[in-house]
Amino acid sequence: MRPPADAIGTLSLIVGAIALLIFIGVEGALVYAIWRYRATRHVAGEAATFEHNRRLEIAWTAAPALILVVVLALTLGTMAEINGAGVAPAMRIAATGHQWWWEFSYGGMKTANELHIPVDTPITLDLTSVDVIHSFWVPELGPKADMLPGTTNHLRLFARRAGSYDGQCAEFCGVEHAWMRIRVVAQTRSEFDDWLGLQGKPRTTVETDAEKIFLANICVSCHTIRGTDAKGTAGPDLTHVGSRATIGAGVLESTEANVVANMRAWVADPQRYKPGSLMPRVPLSDADLDALAAYLVSLR
Ligand code: CUA
Repeated sequence: MRPPADAIGTLSLIVGAIALLIFIGVEGALVYAIWRYRATRHVAGEAATFEHNRRLEIAWTAAPALILVVVLALTLGTMAEINGAGVAPAMRIAATGHQWWWEFSYGGMKTANELHIPVDTPITLDLTSVDVIHSFWVPELGPKADMLPGTTNHLRLFARRAGSYDGQCAEFCGVEHAWMRIRVVAQTRSEFDDWLGLQGKPRTTVETDAEKIFLANICVSCHTIRGTDAKGTAGPDLTHVGSRATIGAGVLESTEANVVANMRAWVADPQRYKPGSLMPRVPLSDADLDALAAYLVSLR
């Protein structure tokens, strides 16, 4: 697959060259006319009048039309190339917008907010929404596309280099629109396969007292932790929540040092960090909060 950036570069050069030619032509004609018909060269008199000139009129209608047709053809070709026309996607991932987080499904295996993809692989995202219109946009990896409830749009993503790429919901979707961040982690094929293998497994910890706190509270009505009785689907799948670098679709960024504290703070009062979020405050004792946060972080 020819990388889209090269196609954009070529098109930009062609359009730039055409624009330069037009600029030189127009300015040249202007300077020539000023010089050729300057007052000192002519005795002032009646200005020349023209009725019409059919040939000229046809020429200056046809020439711009032709230029626009050429530019349109080049643009459509480049857009098709960026969207991966003629190249079968090597991988399809379903992405669903929620107020205010992202669900990613790899053939039914669900995760949230952090999209992992292999490098050098054309990815097709099948985009939809469960509530309002969102828009998926990671500027470095591809174009932007709306996520509409009730229909599926398609978007081509392509990462040439491994790394972390940030994106953002690009359609105003409610009070927490700004905190609907996307993180794409592009990995080598083997790193990606390891990640996918791990994410596909049920939770790896054995049942603990902390897990019982989760299962005994309202958490289970919205979240799934595969391997337990928690099978809610309204909120993000938490089976491997501890492996994600952010909490709440980017509102809290975790490092090794602060991850448990951040998780605790989030669970203790999501509305403090993301007012309007559908996640309610769950009344828990301090000890239960400590245990629950450590448990969630352990789900890697
Ligand atoms: Cu989702 Cu803005």
